[in-house]
Amino acid sequence: MNRVDGKVALVTGGARGIGGEAARQLVQAGAKVAITDLLEPEGEALAAELGNGTIFLQHDVTDEAAWARVVGETVGQLGGLDILVNNAGVWERSVIEEASVEQFDRICGVNLKGVFLGTKHAINAMKSRPADADSASIINLSSTAGLVGSSTSAIYSMTKGGVRLFTKSTAIEVRARGYNIRCNSVHPGATESAMQDDILATSNMTAAEIETHKATRTPMGRFGKPLDIAQAILFLASNDSAWMTGSEMVVDGGYTAR
Ligand SMILES: NC(=O)c1ccc[n+]([C@@H]2O[C@H](COP(=O)([O-])OP(=O)(O)OC[C@H]3O[C@@H](n4cnc5c(N)ncnc54)[C@H](O)[C@@H]3O)[C@@H](O)[C@H]2O)c1
Repeated sequence: MNRVDGKVALVTGGARGIGGEAARQLVQAGAKVAITDLLEPEGEALAAELGNGTIFLQHDVTDEAAWARVVGETVGQLGGLDILVNNAGVWERSVIEEASVEQFDRICGVNLKGVFLGTKHAINAMKSRPADADSASIINLSSTAGLVGSSTSAIYSMTKGGVRLFTKSTAIEVRARGYNIRCNSVHPGATESAMQDDILATSNMTAAEIETHKATRTPMGRFGKPLDIAQAILFLASNDSAWMTGSEMVVDGGYTAR
């Protein structure tokens, strides 16, 4: 189950958090992985730890020339591109009345432009795959914030809602053009990571209130762990999800079920 033997994956924002765990799971399931991130020391260290040919490429997902370079280097060094995980993302607390255009551009730049550029360059590298081969797989990190609204981060929610529909359009468009590519989104609920630490640190909750919040936010009684999300990413990367495209996989401990 969930094997990706011999496949090549590129994981953006893969130096830590959900992306780092996705890279680890993909390597353990047999893939050759290119980790890309702004964070060079962390990315280099993780690539060395994972071994098995894992490479790290420094990369800003908002930069189109950088996308051409990292996709080219991945194909050149690892032999192709079968799986793209558009994971890099940023979260900022925002109040609509006070938010600046600079903040809007910052959040949209990474969360929307980054996903668009990654998809554009990956399609180019994936589109010549034969119809009878396993489909290439593009996996986009949306969020529960792309499904329901938020009182603290409307711009972030806007980007994650955009990722949800961009995913569905990508899924339909690539098939209409005859390409053997699938595209799905993953919607994590609150998951332990540096991003989540920032969300909690700017929440004005006391340490005790944060513990209560973690225990009561979801029916499952806890926050997610990067592994909870990475296992969904691995499933969508593998051929076990061969008939899934344009779908939204919600991994949120039941948060959006009530
Ligand atoms: N942690 C959560 O609660 C949660 C919930 C729902 C969705 N998500 C989404 O999951 C994804 C991963 O989040 P995480 O929690 O692991 O966060 P994280 O902050 O731990 O990791 C995000 C990574 O993206 C990288 N990054 C940021 N801007 C970049 C850029 N311009 N170019 C390249 N890399 C860049 C960061 O350096 C970092 O390594 C994000 O898209 C996030 O929005 C997270």
